[in-house]
Amino acid sequence: MLRVLVLLYLGCVVIQCQEMCGYYNVTDALGVLEQSPRLMYLRPVSDWKKPTYVTLDVTMRAVLEMDEKLQTLKTLMDLEMIWGNQLLSWEPGDFCGISRVSVPESTVWIPDIFLSEIIEDNSLDVLYVHLYHDGTMKRTKTLNVLTTCSLNLYKFPFDSQKCNLTFGLSTNPVGDVILSAGSTAENITLVSKALFNTGEWALQNINVFLTNISKNGETWSKAIYQISIRRAPMMYVINLIIPACLLVLVDVASMFIPMAGGERLGFKITVVLGFSVLLLILNDFLPNTDNPPILGIFCMVCLVIMIVSIIDSIFISYMLHLSTVHPDVPAWLKLWVLKRLAFLLRIQTKERAQSLAVQVDENKAANEKHPNSSELMNQSSKQVSNGNKDTTEIKLLKKLLRELLMLRRHLIAIKQEEEENSEWHMVAFVLDRFILILYLLIVTLIAVAVVVVWAA
Ligand SMILES: *[C@@H]1O[C@H](CO)[C@@H](O)[C@H](O)[C@H]1NC(C)=O
Ligand SMILES: *[C@@H]1O[C@H](CO)[C@@H](O)[C@H](O)[C@H]1NC(C)=O
Ligand SMILES: *[C@@H]1O[C@H](CO)[C@@H](O)[C@H](O)[C@H]1NC(C)=O
Ligand SMILES: *[C@@H]1O[C@H](CO)[C@@H](O)[C@H](O)[C@H]1NC(C)=O
Repeated sequence: MLRVLVLLYLGCVVIQCQEMCGYYNVTDALGVLEQSPRLMYLRPVSDWKKPTYVTLDVTMRAVLEMDEKLQTLKTLMDLEMIWGNQLLSWEPGDFCGISRVSVPESTVWIPDIFLSEIIEDNSLDVLYVHLYHDGTMKRTKTLNVLTTCSLNLYKFPFDSQKCNLTFGLSTNPVGDVILSAGSTAENITLVSKALFNTGEWALQNINVFLTNISKNGETWSKAIYQISIRRAPMMYVINLIIPACLLVLVDVASMFIPMAGGERLGFKITVVLGFSVLLLILNDFLPNTDNPPILGIFCMVCLVIMIVSIIDSIFISYMLHLSTVHPDVPAWLKLWVLKRLAFLLRIQTKERAQSLAVQVDENKAANEKHPNSSELMNQSSKQVSNGNKDTTEIKLLKKLLRELLMLRRHLIAIKQEEEENSEWHMVAFVLDRFILILYLLIVTLIAVAVVVVWAA
């Protein structure tokens, strides 16, 4: 009899050991799939005075898009939430060692966490949450969100930005739910850097702050994740900065195109048109704030100085025109430009003016002499031609004479040209050099300022 009992008992033990369990044994026992309002809507605590602790863990995956004009940031990140559910727990030993089940998200209470900066949420819905035997619940969601982020673009395109992602609860104040961070800032940064997709932006650092914020007489728990990202500037250097610098260089070089003739003016206007295209491109990136980037200021200053040099070219053309119509330079212009400005720029105008005067005098003398001598020549050539039989020597001499006459005329023409190189030309030259030096000075100064700001 005893033997039978022992056998039966052993058999039972063997049968129990082979007994099969499914997840439904657990869920049935907990009643979690019955859509019970007790589990779905109310904070799962047995004592309402005890707060629920929610641990957050954020892993950044990518910066999908940054809109500098709208000041928005689109990010992809993993958000892991862990909290305790005091109404759902079991002994794994009772259910063949099952210690974890997945239950539909809609059947249990979920902390109502939201992002303060959110504009748009394109995240995929989470279907299941993990439930552990001690009542711990874990929900992992990949967030694809568009958030606001006030950008500081002063150093654009060598800027780095800090954006806050503030997680808070919409209905549970701090007495009910308290947020905490699952891992330290160093670990979050480390893990995120390993996963981060580097596009235009590279991840520098992630910081976590936990605060309590009071609003309307209630205190709310907040977890702020501050993301530091740095822009990869190469594209902007190639597409924007180098072309802008080259155009400025070309414009400086165009100051050496001869003043006479309209070529310089046309060339400069072409350069300015090219530059304004770059400005349009730049304008696409920049927000309408009161604090424009230093690159914008640089381009603006360059444009202004280009326009000034165009106006200078127009004036110079006008002066060269005046020199033919109205050769006398006003006294004040002579004083200010030819004396003081020329002295400042160390351009020696007096000597040139004097030598010009001498040339002019010589020229006049030559002009006076010229008709007489040419008449003489003509007469002599006529006399020579009257003689019937020209010897070869005489023919050669006549040829030589003609050559000499042509040479003389050519020299006279050159002298007349030099005569035109009057004081107006000198004034134009001094003014042109002044603008060139001013141009180089301003461009160098602003370029140095820009580089200093970028390097800081
Ligand atoms: C699990 O459920 C099945 C079917 O309802 C049942 O036969 C089995 O005994 C249950 N297991 C336990 C450990 O309760
Ligand atoms: C981001 O959060 C930190 C920490 O609370 C705060 O000091 C900083 O001012 C916040 N930045 C913005 C732009 O709100
Ligand atoms: C951070 O990571 C290190 C190494 O992986 C680990 O030992 C440490 O416990 C982590 N700290 C936290 C707070 O998670
Ligand atoms: C916020 O308030 C709760 C409850 O008073 C407290 O436990 C927690 O330490 C506070 N958190 C911070 C960051 O001050």
